[in-house]
Amino acid sequence: MGLEDWGIKPVLPIMDEQFALWQGLIESRTGMIFTQTRRPFLEICLSTRMREIGTEDYESYYEFVISGTRGEREWLVLVDRLAVQETSFFRHASSYALVEKHLKELLLKPSLSSINLWSAGCSTGEEPYSLALLVEDLLKNSHRQDVFYGITATDISLPTLAKAKLGVYNERKLYGIPEKMRERYFEQLPNQRDWQIDKLLKARVAFAQLNLMELDKAPFGDMDVIFCQNVLIYFRRFRKRDVVSHLAARLQIGGILVLGVGEVMDWQHPALERIDYPDTLAYRRIQ
Ligand SMILES: C[S@@+](CC[C@H](N)C(=O)[O-])C[C@H]1O[C@@H](n2cnc3c(N)ncnc32)[C@H](O)[C@@H]1O
Repeated sequence: MGLEDWGIKPVLPIMDEQFALWQGLIESRTGMIFTQTRRPFLEICLSTRMREIGTEDYESYYEFVISGTRGEREWLVLVDRLAVQETSFFRHASSYALVEKHLKELLLKPSLSSINLWSAGCSTGEEPYSLALLVEDLLKNSHRQDVFYGITATDISLPTLAKAKLGVYNERKLYGIPEKMRERYFEQLPNQRDWQIDKLLKARVAFAQLNLMELDKAPFGDMDVIFCQNVLIYFRRFRKRDVVSHLAARLQIGGILVLGVGEVMDWQHPALERIDYPDTLAYRRIQ
């Protein structure tokens, strides 16, 4: 029996000219760059999707994606396939330790009435829910139930956001969550495999589609914490700087911007100071 009989067709090789066209389209719309190293990944994503919708070649698929409302809808599917969605609860512990320290300081202020956090590039929700777990626990332990908190969680991919909104995770995905939090804030579903996050906690997170390339359209501001990790890895240096400058403008004075370690190099902003905290890349807005 041949490969075709099993439905496993070989990936269609992409020619240089088409590769350049797709690279340009994806970068201009999402910021993500597909270098030669990521060419095989692009080939797999495109040819799998082309096969699903019965398109024979890269050129026709490109024309389809860039034209009309059907193309726009198709783009939403494709962008989900192209983005790396890998994530986990409390990913990069030191970044969360820094957020915890910052929030504890905030909670010492008797006048504090609300805390606003933003997970930019939230993937399937583990990051914003980790922030919610952290804040919820801190508020309980500090007896500051008078303080309101809300988490804004944004991502470019609609299918990914739909999973995030469900707040249902396989048992394997919960390993990063401290035992006590897991017991308190997760409920096992009847299928015995999946766990659902507490409804009240889920209600604290507002999910929205947002492309980091269009931050000028984002109606958010006065954030106490902005978390943007593992999103800008595939962006060019000038775009990274552009995105983080926009994010910085959405912070309150005193608010902190937490990025992935090593994700942005040689960057300074007149309104921000670098926070000296081990194994983190973070800035505080000072003016
Ligand atoms: C690797 S995940 C990181 C998730 C989470 N921040 C973490 O550190 O675990 C990257 C996420 O960024 C999103 N993303 C990629 N390009 C984006 C863009 N231009 N605007 C908004 N989100 C984007 C992807 O859809 C994906 O969900």
